[in-house]
Amino acid sequence: MGMTMADAFDDECDYLFKAVMIGDSGVGKTNLLSMFSRGEFRLDSKPTIGVEFAYRNVRVGDKLIKAQIWDTAGQERFRAITSSYYRGALGALLVYDITRRATFENLKKWLRELRELGDSQMVIMLVGNKSDLGHKRNVNEEEGRMLAEQEGIFFMETSAFENTNVEEAFVQMITQIHQVTSQKSLDAKVTETTAPCAGQIILNVDEVSATKKAGCCSQ
Ligand code: GTP
Ligand code: MG
Repeated sequence: MGMTMADAFDDECDYLFKAVMIGDSGVGKTNLLSMFSRGEFRLDSKPTIGVEFAYRNVRVGDKLIKAQIWDTAGQERFRAITSSYYRGALGALLVYDITRRATFENLKKWLRELRELGDSQMVIMLVGNKSDLGHKRNVNEEEGRMLAEQEGIFFMETSAFENTNVEEAFVQMITQIHQVTSQKSLDAKVTETTAPCAGQIILNVDEVSATKKAGCCSQ
């Protein structure tokens, strides 16, 4: 998704975390990811075909974490889902659309797949997207919160369109992954799934926005 091989390896970080986007077609997975990684939103975005991914560096405490986030099609016929999509993923953003009830009902199916194919320690963030469309709302915020509580996962409502809570949802997921992995740092499994990056660079706010701008024309 606009990243070249060079981008993937040019800067240095302490850890590389993989996370995945899942949820029905049209809920806004690709736009949430493009907003988080490049500050971009498209009203006319096309359904994703196959698998794409994007990177973003996030500082958690004294560590610089490179988040590698995979995005795939919600539409069954375009999905390139095999267990490889989930392999090594430490986090998942499970997205529904607050204006389309069916996307909320389908969460059961997505949770089943996550629990079947994902790591048992995976950090799951449930996201009710399109909070800007309050007048068309079909799922109450409370319903999302209750489901998340039942499932023992995190929850946030977002708007990729208005850039509301987008940063917060990803950063909370990444911070939780960091907590899980640092608690389990002696666990061999975690060493396998988090690739350490040598050295460290300092990213300040200006550098982050410069990075975002630089990516604005690539697709
Ligand atoms: P698939 O790739 O088919 O699985 O869909 P997706 O989940 O990636 O959805 P995508 O990001 O392509 O967005 C689908 C449509 O919803 C597009 O027209 C977006 O512009 C729109 N959209 C995404 N997020 C928001 C949002 O927060 N608010 C509003 N109003 N529209 C949104
Ligand atoms: Mg998509």
